Amino acid sequence: MVPIGRGGAAALTVLAAAVDAKAVVEIGTGTGVSGVALLRGMRADGTLTTVDIDAENQRLAKQTFTEAGIPSQRVRLIAGAALDVLTRLTDGHYDLVFCDADKREYGDYLREALRLLRPGGVVAFDNALWHDRIADPAQRDPETTAIRELIRAVREDDDLVSALLPVGDGLLVAVKRSS
Ligand SMILES: C[S@@+](CC[C@H](N)C(=O)[O-])C[C@H]1O[C@@H](n2cnc3c(N)ncnc32)[C@H](O)[C@@H]1O
Repeated sequence: MVPIGRGGAAALTVLAAAVDAKAVVEIGTGTGVSGVALLRGMRADGTLTTVDIDAENQRLAKQTFTEAGIPSQRVRLIAGAALDVLTRLTDGHYDLVFCDADKREYGDYLREALRLLRPGGVVAFDNALWHDRIADPAQRDPETTAIRELIRAVREDDDLVSALLPVGDGLLVAVKRSS
């Protein structure tokens, strides 16, 4: 379980502040490193909904949020498989969705994120360079292939404005157009 790096975390803080985020979904809580970065950029009354399949990771994340001085009411921790949990969240309600769980499910996370985001909202994916495997055509494992397909899908979607930021292991960012 590798948390987001410093550059990626800084970019998440900026993105959350840029959209004045009040409601954020995180897929892949881990031990809370990216969650703290998101919360630091969000409005002071903003709530992070964060999903992880591993309850032990979420227990550690809760500790991380407490140590970072985040009030408990600002974080909604949901334990479960992302694709089960996301379907229960409200359409068009969220300002930002950050994806960092199972790379093979990134295409599904994109579909769910576009449903959850308000117009003008942002979706971000960590590991978009996947340890430099994406640019190497010899790499055809399921994670690499899924991330390549995600990048293509985002690029070809006229309703998205996107960029692949070369921070850390790569952060793919896309804004859902307002009209
Ligand atoms: C790379 S870690 C997340 C790190 C975290 N975002 C951070 O930067 O601090 C990936 C997390 O996704 C979780 N995960 C993997 N598959 C999942 C799934 N299908 N649904 C929900 N969580 C999943 C793992 O348990 C792990 O905690």
